[in-house]
Amino acid sequence: MIRDVRCSSVVEALMPTLVPLPRYGCEHAPISVFPSSREASRAVAAEVAALIRARQQERRTVVLGLATGSTPVAFYAELVRLHREEGLSFANVVTFNLDEYCPLPAADPQSYHHFMRVHLFDHIDIRPENTHLPDGTVAAAEVDAHCRRYEELIRAAGGIDFQILGIGRTGHIGFNEPGSPRRSRTRLVTLDPLTRRDASGDFGGEEHTPRYALSMGVASIMEARRIVLMAWGQHKSAIVRAAIEGEVTTQITASFLQEHDHAMFVLDEAAAGGLTRRRTPWLVGALEDQGLAWDERMQRRAILWLSQQRHKAILKLTDDDYNDAGLQDLLRVRGSAYETNRAGFYQMQHTITGWPGGRDPLRTQPGDALVRPLRAKSADVFPKRVLVLSPHPDDDVIAMGGTLCRLVEQGHTVDVAYQVSGAAAVSDEAIWRQLYFSLQTGQLLPPAAQRAREACEAFERDGALPPSAELRRWKGLVRRHEAVAAARICGVRTDHLHFLDLPFYESDTPRRRSLAETDVAIMRGLLNELRPHLIYAAGDLDDPHGTHRLCLRALREALAGCVREPWLDEAELWLYRGEWAEWELDEIDLAVPLSPQEVLRRRRAIFRHETQKDQALFTGDDRREFWQRTEDRSRRLADAYNALGLAEYEAIEAFKRASPDEFLRQTDV
Ligand code: F6R
Repeated sequence: MIRDVRCSSVVEALMPTLVPLPRYGCEHAPISVFPSSREASRAVAAEVAALIRARQQERRTVVLGLATGSTPVAFYAELVRLHREEGLSFANVVTFNLDEYCPLPAADPQSYHHFMRVHLFDHIDIRPENTHLPDGTVAAAEVDAHCRRYEELIRAAGGIDFQILGIGRTGHIGFNEPGSPRRSRTRLVTLDPLTRRDASGDFGGEEHTPRYALSMGVASIMEARRIVLMAWGQHKSAIVRAAIEGEVTTQITASFLQEHDHAMFVLDEAAAGGLTRRRTPWLVGALEDQGLAWDERMQRRAILWLSQQRHKAILKLTDDDYNDAGLQDLLRVRGSAYETNRAGFYQMQHTITGWPGGRDPLRTQPGDALVRPLRAKSADVFPKRVLVLSPHPDDDVIAMGGTLCRLVEQGHTVDVAYQVSGAAAVSDEAIWRQLYFSLQTGQLLPPAAQRAREACEAFERDGALPPSAELRRWKGLVRRHEAVAAARICGVRTDHLHFLDLPFYESDTPRRRSLAETDVAIMRGLLNELRPHLIYAAGDLDDPHGTHRLCLRALREALAGCVREPWLDEAELWLYRGEWAEWELDEIDLAVPLSPQEVLRRRRAIFRHETQKDQALFTGDDRREFWQRTEDRSRRLADAYNALGLAEYEAIEAFKRASPDEFLRQTDV
């Protein structure tokens, strides 16, 4: 434990304005949770601003430890706003950044030097000589001396007063990857494959992503007097939970913050979603004391949790099972285990339907099961207009290929819209092969043939094609053709496919992308043209590059512009999770079982996305191809339903209902 007297007196002088939530026994560090990352970023910036101002009054400098990446972007924007609108001066501020890629020159647009200029330094009155980052171009022989000097500079500045951190999905702080010891100092580190994969979008592919970085060590970070780790989004929730509730371990270097007296985790609701207080709140205390209630969703979550804990089908759970697990309150709501089990069982049973768009009334026989999950005014409309939104050109078949086939077969009018071109995920080699083939066939006319020949020569010489707008367009076209072929396998007609090529995706590197009105207008135009009864969209906020999140945001903004349209009143919105994760059982509202033949048909459709096969080589330790991941995921879900005591299916695709109203209010998209 760091128990430095000087340290606490300084922190008292800081007057921290971030108030931690009352702590539960399972949480080993203070946390503060905000409805959105924007509000959280503003609160952190307010504390930093208060510190800067307090030091200005004392005519003293303040030393900030800074992070880069997507997490602190809104925090820096708020500091810039405070400078511009509220006169916050940075003249007394000295900064030290955590890390820099290596080898990478400061002028490179992907360097953290560049990031800091773009997001902060160029917009405030900080003295350039007061800003410090490790030098990513330092010669190998100089690295150790350079790192030692960095530590000396921090010490000479008086040590770090306030350290900002993000957290990587490996649990790293700075680039202290799993295995980094508590005593580590600024040094050259090798990046974890998962970290490189998360950064690969910025560098145009994994092969161009640096393997190394210079990073402050765990000990360097832990010496800061105040530390705030910020984390946003569902994709961070598992690692955030491990860092806060797990043991202190070199495998998750953020867990070392548990040993710091003045460290705090600042989270948005989505990143806090994995904490015990959110996932299984009955384990930390009575629900009423937490402002929660045993509503249907909470009951279902507890029943499913208990069934999984006890490895028992729902209908076999006994009063003793509930009592032993501390779920007496839940038993009281329903009266007995028997009644509680029945409620949980039927809730899950009613999620299952082989008729995702509802039944054809003319083909419904008396005694046929009702199609329960559908709720909107259009529940009885048949056939329905269905719009499947696929962020990338392969998400439709990867996430819901079986359901797509069923919707078409059952007679609905199905349109699929591919939101972005997906060009970034096509290798130069894939295009070179096409060019080479075209040249060999002798079909290209002279100017095109000449260009193709030059491009092929460049590829053979440099291993890469010369970048150009035309190359990017070809890559988009390749993905388009793959999507057409895959949709054909699912029975979707080519004239029902829409390639939106949303401009946000083409504009910049992934971390800098943002939606513009043109993106939203394209989406709105499509929605108003098709007036769908059912919309299927990727609700997959785990996507590390953020494309799915932006696509979902584009849908939300577009729907917001359609609120007066009568069709929206009748529409239902279903969210699927993509390749990275499946919904938790208690979140599922619609489960579509697939037969073994349907699983194979979906596999054939996924096979059509040939250029994406290589992606499997870039996914850390998980080398499964997309079709394998899809099949494993949907089989695992079928097994989970079966283990609850429900029917045994080959595979299941799952969806969560989002009422358009709630969706429009959702803040973490
Ligand atoms: C950045 C850094 C990293 C990031 C972490 C999260 O300077 O040291 O630890 O904070 O990788 O990255 P994002 O914020 O992009 O999710």
